[in-house]
Amino acid sequence: MGASLDLIATTAFGLEAVVAREIKELGYAQHTITDGRVRFTADAAAICRCNLHLRAASRLVIVIGEFPARDFGELFDQTKAHAWEEWIPAQGAFPVRGRSVKSQLHSVPDCQRIVKKAIVDRLRATHGGDWLDETGPQYGVEISLLNDVATLTLDTSGDALHKRGYRTWVGEAPLRETLAAALVLLSYWNRERSFVDPLCGTGTIPIEAALLGRNIAPGLSRAFTAERWPQFDPQAWRAAREEARQLIEPALPIKIIGNDHEARAIALARKHAIAAGVADDVHFQQQPLAELRSSKKYGCVITNPPYGERLGDQRLVEQLYREMGRVFALLDTWSLYVLTANTGFERLFARTADRRRKLFNSNLACTYYQFFGPKPPSKRAVVSEPPSAIGDEASGSLHMPEHP
Ligand SMILES: C[S@@+](CC[C@H](N)C(=O)[O-])C[C@H]1O[C@@H](n2cnc3c(N)ncnc32)[C@H](O)[C@@H]1O
Repeated sequence: MGASLDLIATTAFGLEAVVAREIKELGYAQHTITDGRVRFTADAAAICRCNLHLRAASRLVIVIGEFPARDFGELFDQTKAHAWEEWIPAQGAFPVRGRSVKSQLHSVPDCQRIVKKAIVDRLRATHGGDWLDETGPQYGVEISLLNDVATLTLDTSGDALHKRGYRTWVGEAPLRETLAAALVLLSYWNRERSFVDPLCGTGTIPIEAALLGRNIAPGLSRAFTAERWPQFDPQAWRAAREEARQLIEPALPIKIIGNDHEARAIALARKHAIAAGVADDVHFQQQPLAELRSSKKYGCVITNPPYGERLGDQRLVEQLYREMGRVFALLDTWSLYVLTANTGFERLFARTADRRRKLFNSNLACTYYQFFGPKPPSKRAVVSEPPSAIGDEASGSLHMPEHP
């Protein structure tokens, strides 16, 4: 598998630029971005490396074909024309998922059925025999129609990439790990700065920050469906895992803090941190927001408070947002980052954000409010380093370069 492959990292809406940046940092420079997709060309090793390292992507898929499809005949013929046998072995299982946006072929179940039939016909003809028992490795096919153009892909990830393997216990309204990682990637936090999530629930944001701060590849403890494909040399996966292990940095110099007033949430957060291998980098404690204080300067608060969507919760959430305004005002050198779907947030928090970014938490439209503190004093002045070397507030290598 030396040839270059046409790949797509799928993302939640709003995270495309974050994922594009991560892909570039992995050494794959050219990409095109459309809604929920970052497309790029790379060799087979990229499948191992991207699955292991991408923090904010949902899945990594291989593009098998792309063509106009305005009727089922066209969809069937064009699907069958592709060399599926080069990917799917005689025993391979190939479930078909689908979606259709602004296209004449709008019945997704019908599109899935047609694509399945076309691939079955092709594989029967090429592998021989009448029966495909589908007992082997999985090749998840997706037919995606957009403006009457069909894109056929094969999923290399298996379980979606937010499933890192550390969170087996679910608390109240947990964030997806991919979104939590994106919140940190979009901030100016780096391992030299203090970090607090005062409403941490089961700990997803602090744990993702710790993984990032230690440069631990988020996929290191899980498996990917393409690991079982005969097309890829197992050595390529071993090499990618070894590379990822070599990149891990030592314990964080400043412990990340996660607080929540619920004892149960904190107990789960501790379990998750142990499972993620960052228990020594994060300190979780049961503490109500009102008691949050810090003598540290230039830290970052990144948090995902309750949104108050449920009737009856609204009043409590309004009080909480006012309290956040009062408590965070004491952290006057800190940068603050808050994700919420509640459109009254800035009014209640009593501060106007320096930047807002639209993100989706599952299907809920949210805003990521960013309030920038002053730049930390430059270490440059102290040690006379050249201007590009140290001291900028801009964060680690995978962070978005958007300092105010
Ligand atoms: C939306 S959840 C956070 C979910 C978290 N990001 C996760 O991934 O698990 C909000 C959390 O705020 C906590 N919370 C609400 N009011 C609080 C308060 N006054 N002090 C501390 N924690 C509070 C809740 O217990 C809940 O766990």
